[in-house]
Amino acid sequence: MRVDVAFTPAELPKGGAAGRTVVVIDVLRATSSIVHALFNGARRIVPVTTVEEAVRKAEELGRDAVLLCGERDCLPIRGFDLGNSPEEFTAERVAGRTLVMSTTNGTPALLASAGSAECLVGALLNAGAIARRVAGAERDALILCSGREGRFAYEDAFCAGLVLRRLRQLRPRVRTDDAGRAVLRLLGRGQGSPAPILRRSAAARRLQEVGLGQDVQFCAQVDLHDVIPSFVEQRIELTAGE
Ligand code: MLT
Repeated sequence: MRVDVAFTPAELPKGGAAGRTVVVIDVLRATSSIVHALFNGARRIVPVTTVEEAVRKAEELGRDAVLLCGERDCLPIRGFDLGNSPEEFTAERVAGRTLVMSTTNGTPALLASAGSAECLVGALLNAGAIARRVAGAERDALILCSGREGRFAYEDAFCAGLVLRRLRQLRPRVRTDDAGRAVLRLLGRGQGSPAPILRRSAAARRLQEVGLGQDVQFCAQVDLHDVIPSFVEQRIELTAGE
């Protein structure tokens, strides 16, 4: 079994990742928010690329039936119900609701993985559950980092490394590519909270700058939730565990 790593969606193989499980990661903050929202009972999340598309989708589904959420340049979008801070997605706000979500890098990465055999949503919050699920599937996989503005993002690479390390503890013979070897090295031997490491990333600095530094602390929690969101037919819902 192979589990490779892509640092940005542009590295997806031609023809997508047909036949593979793709795990999409955008630790700060889109995939962390998705994991937390579904854990708190959101019914489903519909990712869309643009703000206009989000508004159109909301009208199509009935504006009152959905919550519009997301960000641009980390900031909430005018007229939307929620931003992209995971802690906004409380059970009170999201339980039973459909969320239409548009973010800068995370939702485009999810949409780029259409055509894969299966697309899972990963973050540090659910790293262990994702590793167990991928290890249990009889299928090659690709861990797809969303990156930032089409470039390498440190926090996503760190999370990819953590998932890959967990996977290899479960299946020592899993093969990987150079990107996989790099993210394993990047982890080092550190066993403590990844918060200080995440705080050095450009995304974390930006969040700090706009007063959202507490989101970094939240997203740095490893294995907070045992949930596996799966993106099927234009929407993300929880799948049964391993
Ligand atoms: C993204 O999708 O680019 C991120 O979620 C951005 C953010 O956290 O604001």
